[in-house]
Amino acid sequence: MTDFNTLFDQIVAELGGRNSVMALLNVGPSALSNYRKRGTIPSAKQALLDKALAQKGLKFEADDLRLSAHNSAEIRRILLIITGGIAAYKALDLARRLMERGLSVTGVMSKGAQEFITPLSVAALTGEKVYTDLFSLTDEAEMGHIRLARETDMVLVAPATAHFITKMALGMADCLASTICLATTAPVMIAPAMNPQMWAHPALQQNLNTLVQRGVEIIAPATGDTACGEVGAGRLEEPIIIAEQVSTRLRQTYQNGPLSGKHILITSGPTIEPIDPVRFIANRSSGKQGHALAAEAVKRGARVTLVSGPVTEAPPAGLTHISIETAHQMKEACEAALPADSVICAAAVADWHVVGASTSKQKKTEAGPTVITLATNPDILASLSHHDKRPSLVIGFAAETDNLETAAREKHRRKGCDWLIANHIAADAKHSVFGANTNKVLFISSETCEEWPNLKKTDVARRIFDRMEAWFDGD
Ligand code: C5P
Repeated sequence: MTDFNTLFDQIVAELGGRNSVMALLNVGPSALSNYRKRGTIPSAKQALLDKALAQKGLKFEADDLRLSAHNSAEIRRILLIITGGIAAYKALDLARRLMERGLSVTGVMSKGAQEFITPLSVAALTGEKVYTDLFSLTDEAEMGHIRLARETDMVLVAPATAHFITKMALGMADCLASTICLATTAPVMIAPAMNPQMWAHPALQQNLNTLVQRGVEIIAPATGDTACGEVGAGRLEEPIIIAEQVSTRLRQTYQNGPLSGKHILITSGPTIEPIDPVRFIANRSSGKQGHALAAEAVKRGARVTLVSGPVTEAPPAGLTHISIETAHQMKEACEAALPADSVICAAAVADWHVVGASTSKQKKTEAGPTVITLATNPDILASLSHHDKRPSLVIGFAAETDNLETAAREKHRRKGCDWLIANHIAADAKHSVFGANTNKVLFISSETCEEWPNLKKTDVARRIFDRMEAWFDGD
């Protein structure tokens, strides 16, 4: 194995000598000596080296310190559209993270974004010209906006402001960034960032649904403190997570997995049904099985939409995660995500919701507890099984405490799904399937009822997808 300094000298030679490398990295001779002394290169500079090496058909293999041939077809191009929110400054870190993953990044900035960071900083970091104007003669002469939109492997809008999301939903083309979103044929992903109230607003959620229906993938914002001082969902997801989701998505799109080209919709976790702003009806679902299924579908190259209730489990990278609370919201999100080739309903959907849930906190009074009236929730699995856009393979789950097989067979018939995975719930919480890492299930279809051994939930997911692959192959 080569040592770091030999490799570094090799890189310098490949890139035209010390002066060219200093210009490329925008550093002086002492920085180069420091890299040799320390045996490492700062990641932002490494990303610039990686890119220059890739243009020469070379790849730096960090693990075994060597240069290898880089297949230029592997270098994927991202148009990073930065729109104008305070989170715009995080786009710099995001660009770096994307480049660390061997991606080539070209920045496009809205007017608003330029109030927060300069095109110069994006250009310096990416080593690429940054585009800002729809009507720039110079830019149009070099690279017309349509070419810019077409000659990319992915369009990523991060941060995506509420205003820009609305423009996308309306199909506006009043600036370079929105025109690109309209003209591109590449996959589009957006990472929204905004105030929690704005994020939760039905107008915004409706616009997001419109985009999801058109195949735009949403990298949902994280929950926590936001720049405006409010706490809630709205913070731009961490750049490293966005970069990971983008590179997974690119791998799926441009590399063949056994399920590539298939869209799999998965529900996971519980739904929660509000009683008032403080209290709600919930259940013990951890989302572990649903999330394991989603991760497995991503691994096999499928395009995955995960609609999930509140869980502590993080959504796997490389999929569209739609976070909901109630059964009605879950149904709406699932229908908006259609068409899909398969749906797996692994969520523990609440059977009832509270009629007329109060918008203010119910008070404890002398008269005794508040009486709540329940109404039945829509059955999402049954409605997808009978939907006019029914996915070709509909899979349900069932958890029962008694007479597992009889109850599960009856549920299989009643819900109209193709397969039903049934598990036994132990009466005591300690031995319950909820929150556990293993699951012992019955696999039921109209042809068979099989008892699977006690398996890790990840292995249950693997088996289900082995079946699904065989099913799609027509076995
Ligand atoms: O009726 P039960 O809740 O036992 O059915 C379980 C199956 O039906 C699971 O696949 C669950 O995700 C789905 N389900 C649903 N909508 C409901 C209730 C259950 O999709 N309202």
